[in-house]
Amino acid sequence: MYQNWEELEQACNNCKKCKLCNGRKNVVIGTGNKNAKIMFIGEGPGADEDTQGIPFVGKAGQLMNKAFEGLGIKREEVYIANIVKCRPPQNRNPEKEEADACKEYIETQINLVNPEIIILLGSVALKNILGEQYGITSSRGKWFEKDGRKILPTFHPAALLRDETKKINFWQDLKMITNKI
Ligand code: URA
Repeated sequence: MYQNWEELEQACNNCKKCKLCNGRKNVVIGTGNKNAKIMFIGEGPGADEDTQGIPFVGKAGQLMNKAFEGLGIKREEVYIANIVKCRPPQNRNPEKEEADACKEYIETQINLVNPEIIILLGSVALKNILGEQYGITSSRGKWFEKDGRKILPTFHPAALLRDETKKINFWQDLKMITNKI
């Protein structure tokens, strides 16, 4: 575990713990308020994120921005990160060993931000944070508790781009945050 942001950022920027380092343009560590009450965790960078070094700036990010607007939350108020910090080729899911290699980074980020609420975006975030036994369809929209934090899984915004019918669930889930803040 890294003790502060400087140590974490240095470790991430020099990381060669898995093969994803070979294809990256940028390490995508996280963005937003480092003292946020709410933290969002996605899967891993796509092409736009890899180019800019910032999470959720592509199509899925634009959807997140709309959701923030609807919730009356400013993007800069929350903290946003991913399970893996380097782009998986062709946007495939991160492999277990890649997610495992990156695990101490997201764990450090959670500890340093110390959010009250964590929103898990999609199955990869759900399984890596709460456990392999959880499925997104049955877990979304339910509150879990871990290390004294409230955890809410929901669909990944990219899933809404593939299947519009999920938008209503995503929105219902995110609205649940407003009762907790
Ligand atoms: N999808 C993710 O899971 N994370 C990003 O940063 C962008 C798209």
